[in-house]
Parts: sequence; C-alpha cells; structure tokens
Amino acid sequence: MSTVSNEHAAGVASPAPFTALARVYDRIMADIEYDEWAQFVLDKATELGYAGGPLLDLGCGTGNGIIPMLEQGLPVEGLDASEAMLAVARAKLPRVEFHHANFEEFDLGKRYALVYSLFDSLNNLLDDASFGAMARNVRAHLGPGGLFVFDVNTTAGLELLWEGGVASGWADDVYYRWEHSFDEERQLAKVEAFCDTAEGAFTEVHYERGYDPEHVIRLLREAGFEHVEVSAHPDGATVTPETERLWVAARS
Ligand SMILES: C[S@@+](CC[C@H](N)C(=O)[O-])C[C@H]1O[C@@H](n2cnc3c(N)ncnc32)[C@H](O)[C@@H]1O
Repeated sequence: MSTVSNEHAAGVASPAPFTALARVYDRIMADIEYDEWAQFVLDKATELGYAGGPLLDLGCGTGNGIIPMLEQGLPVEGLDASEAMLAVARAKLPRVEFHHANFEEFDLGKRYALVYSLFDSLNNLLDDASFGAMARNVRAHLGPGGLFVFDVNTTAGLELLWEGGVASGWADDVYYRWEHSFDEERQLAKVEAFCDTAEGAFTEVHYERGYDPEHVIRLLREAGFEHVEVSAHPDGATVTPETERLWVAARS
C-alpha cells in the first residue's frame, strides 16, 4: 500500500493496492508462520523491557499477526489503511478493535506498550518524509519506555526479488503470477501482482522502498527514539551486507 497510484495492466482490472488482493491474501500467505514472527516480536520486546500492556499491530492487514497475540492473552488492536483488508480482519476477529488509518497521520488518542509491524508493511513508505511521519506518530502513541518492533526489507532483499523476476504458481485455488522489477527513475522495487480466481482476475501494482540498517536507525533517532537496534530476520542474527530482511527494535 502506498500513496502511489496504481497502473493499468492490459486486459485485467487494475485496482488500488491491497483492495482486490484482500480476498485472496490469506490463501497466498497460508504458509507464513505468523506464530514465529509474533514470538520474535514478543521475545525482543521482553528483552527490552516489555512486561505486559496494550499492543498495536501497524499495517495489520487481514489480522494474521494479531491472532498469535490473542492466543497469548494479550490486549491487541490493529491499524490499516485498507478497508478491504480490514473487512477480512474484522470478519475473522470480531472482538478486536481495528482502526482505519494511514501510518502517516494516525491519532488514536491512546498509548500502547508495544507497537509492532509485520511482513513488509513499512516498506510501503516510499520516502524519508513518510517514514519519519509514521515513526513520529508511533512514538506519540507509546507510553514511557514503550517499544516499536518491526521487520523491513533491505535494498539487498528487494534486489534479490527483482533479480528473481517472476514468481508464479497456485495458492489453493488462486493462480498467481508476480512480476518483480526495479523502477530506476523512482529507485523503488515494483511488483505487478496478477491473480486469477473464480471471482475474476486482477493485477495490483505495489511499490516498496528498501531500508538498510544505518538509514532506518537514523530515521528512528530523528523521530525521537532513544535506543534502536537491528538484527537479521528471522532469528535475530548479526546483520551482514547480504541480509535481506531486518528486525528493528526501538525504545521511546
Ligand atoms: C504486506 S501487507 C502485511 C499485512 C500484515 N501485517 C501481515 O503480516 O499479513 C501490508 C499492509 O500494510 C498496509 N499499509 C500499507 N501502507 C499503509 C499506510 N501508509 N498506512 C496504513 N496501512 C498501510 C496495507 O493496507 C496492508 O494491509
């Protein structure tokens, strides 16, 4: 999801990011081990002082990263800019409070002990100004010592995707063909995500911007976070130049 408008793909409907995709998202993500992702977030947060208190899943999508938190009895809410993704989340998790809002300008009028974000959501922020606005908003929603933990693709990770070109196959009854490339002019990774289902075919065009360790640390410090640490996804290993995805943990 981004502020970038979508592009037309010949022959198929070309909706905005995370709209048509919402109805097939859970089938495409069926193999993702959200339990493990969520556990990493909780372990890292605990290491940095989290001892209970309300959680916010930023870019919660269809709510898959909320379920493991609920299973641990934690009070968790979700925020997302896509009504279509939220509609799926609300149907799955009717007792959870969801906020329809944009990372760059949300004001929920309350504070959380831990804000977390999973699976590339923050790569949808395509420049420093929007990432900075998001980080300042997160900080404004954290209590003293509150924590922000998220994953983000590095530029090396996105390069690997576009060098890989096309990924295609079946996810349950959804045929997908996702074409990765690099938009030289805008210096952004681009995914043209074609899906064909019984309900019809569509192509959504998504852009992502890579965030490398020094860059993300600088942006979070500029937003007022005092302690920022990065490690490699999935297990928190030391970051190397080849690291494709970071875990980032910041304390307010
Ligand atoms: C790749 S999905 C990840 C969803 C979920 N976290 C997961 O792990 O399945 C990215 C989500 O971020 C949301 N998103 C992207 N940009 C956003 C923005 N600027 N403000 C709020 N939500 C945004 C999209 O609507 C989408 O649901």
